[in-house]
Amino acid sequence: MAIILITGADGQLGNELKVVSKNFYGYDFIFTDINSLDISNPEQTLEFIKNSRPDWIINCASYNLVDKAESEPETAMLINGTAVKNITDAIRGSECKFIHISSDYIYNGNSNVPYSESVPANPLSAYGVSKLAGEKEALRHHGSMVIRTSWLYSSFGNNFVKTILRNAKEKESLRVIFDKTGTPTYAADLAAAIMQIVSGVIRNHIAMNAGIYNYSNEGVCTWYDFAVEIIREAGLNCNVIPILTKDFKTDALRPVYSVMDKSKIKENYNLSIPHWRTSLVKCMKLLK
Ligand SMILES: NC(=O)c1ccc[n+]([C@@H]2O[C@H](COP(=O)([O-])OP(=O)(O)OC[C@H]3O[C@@H](n4cnc5c(N)ncnc54)[C@H](OP(=O)(O)O)[C@@H]3O)[C@@H](O)[C@H]2O)c1
Repeated sequence: MAIILITGADGQLGNELKVVSKNFYGYDFIFTDINSLDISNPEQTLEFIKNSRPDWIINCASYNLVDKAESEPETAMLINGTAVKNITDAIRGSECKFIHISSDYIYNGNSNVPYSESVPANPLSAYGVSKLAGEKEALRHHGSMVIRTSWLYSSFGNNFVKTILRNAKEKESLRVIFDKTGTPTYAADLAAAIMQIVSGVIRNHIAMNAGIYNYSNEGVCTWYDFAVEIIREAGLNCNVIPILTKDFKTDALRPVYSVMDKSKIKENYNLSIPHWRTSLVKCMKLLK
């Protein structure tokens, strides 16, 4: 029976993996979070992995406070970079497969066509720098797959969808930036894609194609478009005012454009990816 260890499992993606794992019999899932496995602790990570002997590790643990990372880059680097090394050190020389999750914030946003994985990374923020460091640590292990995702949301945890819903219930109007373009990702879709990859490799006894892969939902939007759709779908009566990034000050710089080309993951793993609007409707049904 394949043993699959999930770190950071109390977050959005980890919780969605808990949901999707119920459809997969014959696998032994071990869900951990910082209280049971703190991946920034090298001794604990080595000990836990040595004892549980996973065939796969899916690292969902992350420091995701993009603005706060500007004032505490060491903490971001510890969790997003050094902790990934703790995992790959613990599985060095083994056949354990490693799936690590990264971010569209490793791209600089200067493109106007969807980013392919081969475009050189050039992060604009301390968070992006730490995520890129984590990718490099992950790829030191021969059996690692790095999945870059963007604008993640779920019915679990805190995210843009929940923030907009909360504010739209309380306010007559909301100001949302319309000069940043990307693609939302429903964490349930990403979790299902990850398990399709894992189960496909196990069932068909095929090699996992290590390397970097982009994954988001299909389609493109601005944060403004996303907010409008959330409010419309919720049936709320709140006016969304489009504003420019320069009028919404944040500590961290974010890419102006971070739409990702997903051909590589779709072709390699035969994935079909839902459009972001379709998935938003699914998530909103759970939130109602
Ligand atoms: N959220 C987004 O919009 C977004 C966008 C692009 C990429 N991503 C990437 O997608 C992945 C999943 O994101 P997510 O939104 O599911 O994250 P999340 O909801 O913030 O979950 C991350 C989990 O990791 C835990 N954690 C933090 N430090 C840890 C440590 N040292 N050891 C073990 N667990 C630790 C967190 O615990 P605490 O809550 O107690 O800190 C939390 O439960 C991450 O790699 C993230 O960078 C996310």
